[in-house]
Amino acid sequence: MANLWSSLLHLLPLATPLSLSTTTAITHPSPGFPMVINTWGGPFTVATDAAYESLNASAFLSPLGDNNSSRLAPKTAALDAVQLGCATCEAAQCDGSVGFGGSPDEQCETTLDALLMDGATLNTGAVAALRRVRDAVGVARAVLDHTSHSLLAGDQATAFAVQNGFVEEEIGTVDSARSCREWRDGGRCQPNYRLDVTPDPKTACGPYAPTEQAKTSSLVEDNNKKKRYQVGHDTISMIALDGAGGMAAGTSTNGASHKVPGRVGDGPIAGSGSYADGEVGGCGATGDGDVMMRFLPCYQAVESMRRGLTPGEAAADAVRRMTRRYPDLAAGLVVVNTKGEHAGAAAGWTFTYAFRGGGMGATRVVTVPPINGAEDHGVEI
Ligand SMILES: *[C@@H]1O[C@H](CO)[C@@H](O)[C@H](O)[C@H]1NC(C)=O
Ligand SMILES: *[C@@H]1O[C@H](CO)[C@@H](O)[C@H](O)[C@H]1NC(C)=O
Ligand SMILES: *[C@@H]1O[C@H](CO)[C@@H](O)[C@H](O)[C@H]1NC(C)=O
Repeated sequence: MANLWSSLLHLLPLATPLSLSTTTAITHPSPGFPMVINTWGGPFTVATDAAYESLNASAFLSPLGDNNSSRLAPKTAALDAVQLGCATCEAAQCDGSVGFGGSPDEQCETTLDALLMDGATLNTGAVAALRRVRDAVGVARAVLDHTSHSLLAGDQATAFAVQNGFVEEEIGTVDSARSCREWRDGGRCQPNYRLDVTPDPKTACGPYAPTEQAKTSSLVEDNNKKKRYQVGHDTISMIALDGAGGMAAGTSTNGASHKVPGRVGDGPIAGSGSYADGEVGGCGATGDGDVMMRFLPCYQAVESMRRGLTPGEAAADAVRRMTRRYPDLAAGLVVVNTKGEHAGAAAGWTFTYAFRGGGMGATRVVTVPPINGAEDHGVEI
């Protein structure tokens, strides 16, 4: 298949030399294996370290040529590392945007979205709008291991979690309750995600009803009107490579603050929040998930690498496909190929990602300026 694509690439106009800006399509060399890479630096590096250390420990279980099966690294080492990394962020409430007690919805409830994907098999487990359970990525792992489904949602995902031994409990906190009350009572529910409803969502709280005008113009796409407010709704998306061909990806987030109850973002959507194909590479995403999930940017970036783009070109291309239609988008992508070569691309904000690989004694953070800054001369390919 790879040969077929490369011969096609020589025929298609797509294969004309890329004129991507060098400043925005930088691909960094591989640090070596094992390797962990994830969205954001700062508080998110606790996840990088936890995942890297677990992966490094299992790498040393299988020195090359050792036939002693009790010392072989588990086939799931990369998956286990991603789960541990995301769970570490959930427990540490990385930046308030992952785990319990963050991003309360309009009704002040925190709900969680998480995804795990095994790059060897493309097996996927995910939960969406998970209520009253803290360890969202753990429940995603149970979906992956103990069902042939890919995604469970809402109260039934909670019931499944309880059947699998997870604790059902209050996951809001005093802080999340207070900030939600301030938003609702003091701030008149500003800002919010409602459009074309009455009373006017720009000045009043709900309950809301659709306006007559919206009913008759619902087919008219008006991206400017749909421009939404953005607060820091970050996400951890992580890829782990064990060096023996194993690769996995995952995502965990508590979504967008003041979301409409029931809202699910890009996080638990394979190909959007994250993606891993052990034959090609992996990707993690963060940003305005409501828009990003329309483009499956991580699937796009991995498929672009399959067709010959470098990680830097693939990341920048995936972001440009979104900003061409949504110029005000905030997005960040981190992309890695099977060699461990890596890159990021961002729009609308300065993005950072963290990585640790080979014998690195500490996690390093890469700063990625937005491609829609003044220096961007790239084209969508
Ligand atoms: C491991 O097994 C393979 C295949 O049976 C053999 O060729 C190799 O020599 C063995 N290595 C060690 C270290 O025993
Ligand atoms: C295999 O490895 C385990 C753990 O390191 C060790 O206890 C055991 O003796 C080894 N077996 C053989 C046959 O070398
Ligand atoms: C990786 O694990 C080995 C074996 O436990 C250890 O000696 C080494 O220091 C670890 N590397 C890093 C960078 O932590």
